Amino acid sequence: MTSVAIVTGASSGIGAATARRLAAEGFHVLAAARRTERLAELVAGIEAAGGRATAVECDVTSDESVAGLAAAAAAAPGPVTLLVNNAGGARGLDPVESGSVGDWQWMYDVNVLGTLRVTQALLPALEASGAGTIVVVSSTAGFTVYEGGGGYTAAKHAQTAVAGTLRLELCGRPIRVIEIDPGMVKTEEFSLVRFGGDAERAAAVYAGVAEPLVADDVADCIAWCATRPHHVNVDRLVVRPLAQAAQHKVHRAGQ
Ligand SMILES: NC(=O)c1ccc[n+]([C@@H]2O[C@H](COP(=O)([O-])OP(=O)(O)OC[C@H]3O[C@@H](n4cnc5c(N)ncnc54)[C@H](OP(=O)(O)O)[C@@H]3O)[C@@H](O)[C@H]2O)c1
Repeated sequence: MTSVAIVTGASSGIGAATARRLAAEGFHVLAAARRTERLAELVAGIEAAGGRATAVECDVTSDESVAGLAAAAAAAPGPVTLLVNNAGGARGLDPVESGSVGDWQWMYDVNVLGTLRVTQALLPALEASGAGTIVVVSSTAGFTVYEGGGGYTAAKHAQTAVAGTLRLELCGRPIRVIEIDPGMVKTEEFSLVRFGGDAERAAAVYAGVAEPLVADDVADCIAWCATRPHHVNVDRLVVRPLAQAAQHKVHRAGQ
């Protein structure tokens, strides 16, 4: 029977690439996000390539919406063996002194409470499969802080704490927990969202970096971890582009 994988935040970037990749690996993918027209395009592309996927409208900040995702999982054509908690993002690059409480709230709700809501809703199905995997897409911001990153790093530290705690709590049950921590990934929307649609500020993040990671690189890491034999638990995978030795140490051409 085909295994079912659920990917949140599948309408763009890392989530979309992961949905495509997992479908190519043979999963029936439930692709979840708020923008259904983008999900429809994604599903059409997956099906055109011979894969299987279903679009599910889901806002991870809404209990009701997440209950709908769990219902879609229950109706899916196979055991739910994989959940990729990817929905998330950053808003703002302001110092703690003047950061927007609203931005901090958004980041906490989507990255942390979104992961909590979706995980709670899908845990019974993952456990019932007898071989469940939960992937949490956190960030290098989950273990490092940087100036202006207070809200995002606080949220990602919290998301990392959820992953670590869950692994301890699930020990002895058939569900592994894998944390993926990417550094700089050039996705179409991440920095645009962070800077409220300011394309110039968004482009400056990657300026002079020869080869930042792209969404497919992270999807490759997620797929590799998730397709190891089930007793192999990659606790945490940290992945950065070659040009980024650390959060503060990025090689940029001409500098
Ligand atoms: N890009 C990077 O440099 C980088 C580095 C490390 C970690 N990450 C993490 O990787 C993940 C994906 O990032 P990305 O670069 O692919 O960003 P992205 O292109 O901006 O994608 C973010 C995704 O999250 C979804 N999303 C946002 N709010 C949501 C909500 N309330 N409910 C459901 N889905 C929601 C968006 O879909 P809708 O708007 O359609 O709902 C979108 O599909 C995030 O958790 C991010 O923090 C990114």
